[in-house]
Amino acid sequence: MSEGFENALARRASQINATLDDLTALPSGPERRLVEAMRHGLLGPGKRLRAFLVLESAALFREPETRALRVAAAVECIHAYSLIHDDLPSMDDDALRRGHPTVHVAFDEATAILAGDALQTLAFEVLASPGAYAGPAVAGALCHRLAQASGAAGMVGGQMLDILAEKRAEEGAEPLSVQETEKLQSGKTGALIRFAASAGPILAEASGGDQAALDAYGARIGLAFQIRDDLLDLEGDEAETGKKLRKDATAGKATFVDLLGVDGARSRALELVEAAKSALSSFGDSATLLRQAADFTVERLR
Ligand code: IPE
Ligand code: IPE
Ligand code: MG
Ligand code: MG
Ligand code: MG
Repeated sequence: MSEGFENALARRASQINATLDDLTALPSGPERRLVEAMRHGLLGPGKRLRAFLVLESAALFREPETRALRVAAAVECIHAYSLIHDDLPSMDDDALRRGHPTVHVAFDEATAILAGDALQTLAFEVLASPGAYAGPAVAGALCHRLAQASGAAGMVGGQMLDILAEKRAEEGAEPLSVQETEKLQSGKTGALIRFAASAGPILAEASGGDQAALDAYGARIGLAFQIRDDLLDLEGDEAETGKKLRKDATAGKATFVDLLGVDGARSRALELVEAAKSALSSFGDSATLLRQAADFTVERLR
């Protein structure tokens, strides 16, 4: 992985961490426990790739950083909420996340559900702040697109397909096809990454061609990112990833690794990354960091 990219990712991570910290100041009343749980899920050492994509996509369109940071924070709030709920006993039942006990372990299950709920609404509160963007149409478009990416047609819908696939496996039914697995993964992981990559042209009210380019890039790296996650479940290092690995096969998760084997899944991810990079061809050198981010999705060890 290029040193320039690693440094850029670290710089963006510290920027977004400061913003997320400011957004979740601890209150003194009885709701303090809720905000502590939100902070536990939000402020752990995540890679902040989604925030990076928002900020670099916005930089490509010369959008002011203050605006882009709001969108990046909103995306990281939705992502943290999705992880808190994903780890619950009724979902993936995980006790470790980002190298720390998961929220339901550190607090309790009800608090974890509520912390996820409150992070979800915080995302839209931050995104819709009055006067934050060039005009009200931009705020509307951002809220609309983030809601689509997060809900039944996006992340939550994909999570439902993921849980249904597990149940099918338990009943000994046929595994999902490649096409069905792609739909599941484009939803649970792809949709939010796709939104993050598209944030720049939405903020800048850019042309349809520019919107389509970033959308195609985001959709492809989103899928590649989940294939890498599934490969890391099989061959990754628990200390490096900060989560419990080698769980997907026994849980009956629908993955490309299961369908295509390790080599097949790896070549599918590499194809997606090349296709993602070629979607950015009209941006020339100004999109170098986004091209490196595409490589990172498949080369990463965490
Ligand atoms: C993990 O996402 C969950 C998936 C969608 C695969 P990340 O690997 O981006 O997790 P953090 O934010 O870096 O912890
Ligand atoms: C998670 O996919 C996708 C989400 C919407 C959170 P995984 O269940 O594979 O993510 P990890 O492996 O727990 O991070
Ligand atoms: Mg899961
Ligand atoms: Mg999980
Ligand atoms: Mg996983």
